Amino acid sequence: MLGFKLPAVVSAFVAAAVAQQYNGTLGPDANGKYEISAEGIRGLFIPYGASISNLFINDTNGIERDIVLGFDNASHYSEDPYHPHFGGVPGRYANRIKNSSFVIDGVEYHVLPNENNNNDTLHGGPDGWDWRNFTVVAHTIDSITFSIVDPDGDQGFPGEVISYITYTMTPHQWHLKMVALSTTKKTPIMLSSHTYWNLDAFQNNATALALNHTLFLPYSGQRVGTDGILIPNGTILPNQQYSVNDFWSAPKQIGANFTSPDAYGNCGTNCTGYDTCYLVNRAQNGPYDWRTEGPVATLASAFTGIQVDIFTDQYAFQVYSCGGQNGTIPLKSTQGMFDGSRPRVVEQYGCIVMEVEDWIDAINQPEWQRSKKNIFGPGDDPYVLEATYSFSINKTLTL
Ligand SMILES: *[C@@H]1O[C@H](CO)[C@@H](O)[C@H](O)[C@H]1NC(C)=O
Ligand SMILES: *[C@@H]1O[C@H](CO)[C@@H](O)[C@H](O)[C@H]1NC(C)=O
Ligand SMILES: *[C@@H]1O[C@H](CO)[C@@H](O)[C@H](O)[C@H]1NC(C)=O
Ligand SMILES: *[C@@H]1O[C@H](CO)[C@@H](O)[C@H](O)[C@H]1NC(C)=O
Ligand SMILES: *[C@@H]1O[C@H](CO)[C@@H](O)[C@H](O)[C@H]1NC(C)=O
Ligand SMILES: *[C@@H]1O[C@H](CO)[C@@H](O)[C@H](O)[C@H]1NC(C)=O
Ligand SMILES: *[C@@H]1O[C@H](CO)[C@@H](O)[C@H](O)[C@H]1NC(C)=O
Ligand SMILES: *[C@@H]1O[C@H](CO)[C@@H](O)[C@H](O)[C@H]1NC(C)=O
Ligand SMILES: *[C@@H]1O[C@H](CO)[C@@H](O)[C@H](O)[C@H]1NC(C)=O
Ligand SMILES: *[C@@H]1O[C@H](CO)[C@@H](O)[C@H](O)[C@H]1NC(C)=O
Ligand SMILES: *[C@@H]1O[C@H](CO)[C@@H](O)[C@H](O)[C@H]1NC(C)=O
Ligand SMILES: *[C@@H]1O[C@H](CO)[C@@H](O)[C@H](O)[C@H]1NC(C)=O
Repeated sequence: MLGFKLPAVVSAFVAAAVAQQYNGTLGPDANGKYEISAEGIRGLFIPYGASISNLFINDTNGIERDIVLGFDNASHYSEDPYHPHFGGVPGRYANRIKNSSFVIDGVEYHVLPNENNNNDTLHGGPDGWDWRNFTVVAHTIDSITFSIVDPDGDQGFPGEVISYITYTMTPHQWHLKMVALSTTKKTPIMLSSHTYWNLDAFQNNATALALNHTLFLPYSGQRVGTDGILIPNGTILPNQQYSVNDFWSAPKQIGANFTSPDAYGNCGTNCTGYDTCYLVNRAQNGPYDWRTEGPVATLASAFTGIQVDIFTDQYAFQVYSCGGQNGTIPLKSTQGMFDGSRPRVVEQYGCIVMEVEDWIDAINQPEWQRSKKNIFGPGDDPYVLEATYSFSINKTLTL
């Protein structure tokens, strides 16, 4: 017992510190998931890929909705044969690497291919970061930190990389901070959060799809041009107003242009929709603070009234409209219809993936002059990615 009264500010600090302490309710639940929460937001995370597995937000009618895709338990992520990268951190280099090779300081490196009959490397290779269990290094009621040590030579990448992924909840907001250090050699690093969204939790009785979600990318007048297997070919293309890739001049439903002939092939050969790296061009507004300038993207659904505004320090934004889903993957027990009116599976176009990241495959497009944001060595500043997903209701974008 202290013999004097603590000043109020110190008491408040101590109370907050105690509230953050492990108290027996932290640690994984029976499904192997770790909970963090704040007012109006509750998330469940797993070590596999440092993934988000559930994200609960109350909708316009006060009904709690789980608005991200995942599996019911942590063990299933390693067993599922399709590996859709649900909610994980792709690493050490997100998206595709052309011909599974790159050159650093005149040395050509080859990494393990894993896509398109082994023509390229997707999301860091056949055993990329989102195939591995990270270590939980910290867990409080509102924050969790995962770490990974990626050895020199793993998947063919040069040098060791050590990374920390921290997720934090504040009222109505989910914050992501990803830091990676290259400790021994120059190597490519690009991370992201590969979260799949359905803001209706598959509980909209009018549609099982995400095509009626409204998307706005106010800074994305340009995109990366790709070939038929989605490998950048060096071109930067204009998203002309009213074209299928125009999400910058006005908000638009994801499915608004699906019947346009231009939507066919827009996400690779024979694919209708989006799997597209949009550039984020904010420099015209002068110096900016990413926490307040933006959001770079807004997604909203009228059915639940849930809207997410995405703020980030990153310079590109990938949108994938789930053309590759086909009803094979089961919904979580927290999602979908329970009255038998619809199959409890993820249908084609049933979701949308949004990835904050840098310009994809910039390691193979040196003329883009982005090596400082894609190649990291022991003497360099660490790789850092930050983002805030801010949730609100009844603010639905005008269509
Ligand atoms: C323990 O943490 C939970 C949140 O995870 C909180 O609801 C509860 O009040 C805490 N219990 C004590 C005794 O601090
Ligand atoms: C949703 O509302 C209920 C009832 O007020 C509350 O208990 C719950 O914590 C809310 N959920 C979230 C994610 O805020
Ligand atoms: C949002 O709008 C719905 C439908 O108009 C209404 O029932 C609900 O009370 C509103 N919620 C808030 C928080 O304003
Ligand atoms: C884990 O989740 C999967 C997919 O939903 C399910 O098939 C499996 O039975 C679950 N396993 C356990 C132990 O609950
Ligand atoms: C990851 O951890 C889970 C337990 O949560 C375990 O079932 C699974 O086999 C592990 N996967 C890998 C790839 O180590
Ligand atoms: C991939 O590479 C093989 C041979 O290396 C080639 O036959 C094939 O056309 C390439 N493209 C795709 C999309 O598989
Ligand atoms: C969807 O549910 C609402 C509210 O329960 C109901 O009014 C409406 O008729 C339903 N629509 C369909 C297409 O079933
Ligand atoms: C690159 O791909 C875009 C989009 O498919 C295409 O319009 C363009 O002609 C291609 N350019 C080159 C140089 O291959
Ligand atoms: C795409 O949809 C928007 C909104 O409905 C419309 O203004 C535009 O003309 C459409 N563009 C194409 C190419 O269909
Ligand atoms: C949902 O999307 C379809 C196809 O784009 C469109 O025809 C329909 O009007 C939309 N419904 C709502 C309620 O916006
Ligand atoms: C694209 O579709 C056409 C027509 O169905 C088919 O002949 C072709 O093999 C398909 N190409 C790929 C790469 O799937
Ligand atoms: C559905 O997608 C899965 C995963 O990509 C694939 O293995 C399976 O063959 C597809 N099924 C059909 C019927 O296309």
